[in-house]
This record gives sequence, structure tokens and C-alpha cells, in this order.
Amino acid sequence: MTKKQTLILGIESSCDETAAAVVRNGHEILSNVVASQIDSHKRFGGVVPEIASRHHVEQITIVIEEALTQADVSLAEIDGIAVTEGPGLVGALLIGVNAAKTLAFSHQIPLIGVHHIAGHIYANRFETAMKFPLLALVVSGGHTELVLMRAHNDFEIIGETRDDAAGEAYDKVARALGLSYPGGVEIDKLAQTGEDTFHFPRAMLNEDNFDFSFSGLKSAFINTLHNMRQKDLEPSPADMAASFQESVVDVLVNKTLRAAKKYQVKQLLLAGGVAANKGLRARLIQEAEVEISDVSLVIPPLSLCGDNAAMIAAAGTIAYQKCQFGNLAMNAEPGLTFNEVQND
Ligand code: KG4
Ligand code: ZN
Repeated sequence: MTKKQTLILGIESSCDETAAAVVRNGHEILSNVVASQIDSHKRFGGVVPEIASRHHVEQITIVIEEALTQADVSLAEIDGIAVTEGPGLVGALLIGVNAAKTLAFSHQIPLIGVHHIAGHIYANRFETAMKFPLLALVVSGGHTELVLMRAHNDFEIIGETRDDAAGEAYDKVARALGLSYPGGVEIDKLAQTGEDTFHFPRAMLNEDNFDFSFSGLKSAFINTLHNMRQKDLEPSPADMAASFQESVVDVLVNKTLRAAKKYQVKQLLLAGGVAANKGLRARLIQEAEVEISDVSLVIPPLSLCGDNAAMIAAAGTIAYQKCQFGNLAMNAEPGLTFNEVQND
């Protein structure tokens, strides 16, 4: 008798969200539970690894149980457990990996290791099926890269940041303006009401490659702020935010569209926490329509841009269907690359 459905339990704990989800057939969310720790890290202005680990320990069992309850399934019905193996904070990853290994061993369920960024890319699977070749613009707190996929679970990085990730730059300039962590969304909000009056640099915009650099922009922003304050001038936060955002979006959109043309992709996907950025979403939609009208642009819903476990389950479903499983030797891999995911 052929089985009608595949149920994958996803587990994510790479940074400051403890998350578990149940996904049916790789694209239907039955539950998606996220316990955010943001309030605990806010007063430190960033994620404190030890605090993150402690919260994951406290939350992981509750979150997994809640995901199963909301999905109305028991562990006996789960076909595979997909967990973020890396990259991320080692102490944070370890909690999810150990929870997944324990459940997999005690209930004899196949274990699947997932690359966190593969998860972000597969968040788009809840919008539509993937068509290859495709290009994904990944913009998160730790990564900024253009990933070319010629098939499922086949990732080639064709360009990446040489220094700060886009989200990291957002958070740092937000901090300089005195905004609370994580500042990306605050800068985005402020930018809606300001103008690009500062004309910050657009690093590497005209270079013949698909790499990015945001640390010069971050320094230009902070220097402008300090120089003006030394003269007892206070720049308009909205104009500073809008100027910063215009620079980031200009470079991201320009290089992404160029890469989409060069590699003649069928789909262009947006992925990662910064995919929630209103300015980026709007410009990408607007320019893709004009520049690459034959390419379908896929943008995940806001609820799936940040870290969650449904995306991990979606990516894990592909490995499950190929019978590529991890084993109990799986470990947390803070610097995991796409090719190092341990499923065989
Ligand atoms: O993907 P994510 O949840 O975690 C990582 O894997 O890093 O991304 C978090 C990042 C943070 O830097 C946060 O400030 C940024 O995404 N972010 C935004 C927005 N919402 C979240 N950046 C710009 N605009 C937003 N609306
Ligand atoms: Zn992430």
C-alpha cells in the first residue's frame, strides 16, 4: 500500500528562536511554533550565546509538544525529523540537534540534517513549487549571498558578502541611532518616512561579480552621525534610515537581477530575515517586472522570512524523499557549508 502523505517534524534552534513545526508533503504547514527570545537579548543590544542556549533548553520540549498538538499528530505518525545542523551558534544548535537525535532514536524515526540557509530558501516552497534553474537572494542576520540551484538540494554560491551580512549592517546602524535590537525592522519603518538625502556609497555596484560589501556603508553611516553630532547637529533619523536602505536595496536588487539574467533562471526567490524588508520587497517586485519579466519572482510571506521550523521541515522533506538520512553521530556544526550536510 502506498503511503498518501509525508509528515516531517522540523526543529530549529540556530540563533534566538526555538522553533518546531509539522509539515505535510513538503509544502503544507500543519503547525509552526516559534518561541522568540528577543526580549531577553534586547537589553544587551544583540544575541548573547549563553542566554540563547539556556532559553533553548527551557523551551525545546514545550515547543515540540506544542507543534505536535497543534498539528494533531503523534510522534508515531511522523515520518522524519529534520533539524538545523548548522550554521549558527554552537551551543544553540546543540539543543535542537540533541532533541532531534533523542526523539529519532527513541521512536525509531529517520533523522535529517538541514542547512539553515537551505531552510530559508525552502520557505518559498510554501508559496509555489520550485522551477530550476533558480536563483535565491539570501539576506539574513548572518548571511548575504546569491545561491544558484539547478535541482533540489543542489546549491552553488555565485556571490556573497565579503564582510558584514545585510541584516548585521541593519542591526549595527540601528544601534548607532539608539534603536532597539533587532534594528532591521525599525530602520525599515523609519525609512518609509524619510528621503535618501545622504547618498551613501553603493559598494561593488559596478564590479563585474556578484559579491557584496556592507561594512563601508555601515562606517559611512556611523561617521556621518558622529561628524554631525560633533557639530551639535542631529541628522533626521528617517532620512538616515532611508539613505541607508536605498544604498542596500540598490546594490542587492541590481546585482540580483544581473545574476538572474546571466544564469537564465526560471525563478527568483527571496529568502532570510531581511526578506521581510518592505523597501527590498517593493523594489524587487517593481524592477523584476521590467528587467526580467519572463522570470517568476517568489517572495515568502512575512511570517516565514525570519527563523522558523516549517522551512527546515520543507527542506528536510527533499532529503527524506531521496532517502538521505543523517545518523546519531550528527553534531552541531557552527560553520556548516551546503556541501557538508551529513545525510547519506
Ligand atoms: O534570518 P534571520 O531571522 O536570522 C538569521 O538567520 O540571521 O534574520 C535576522 C535578521 C536581523 O538582522 C534583522 O534585523 C533582519 O533580519 N530583519 C530585517 C527586517 N526584519 C528582520 N532587516 C531589514 N528590514 C526588515 N524589515
Ligand atoms: Zn535565519
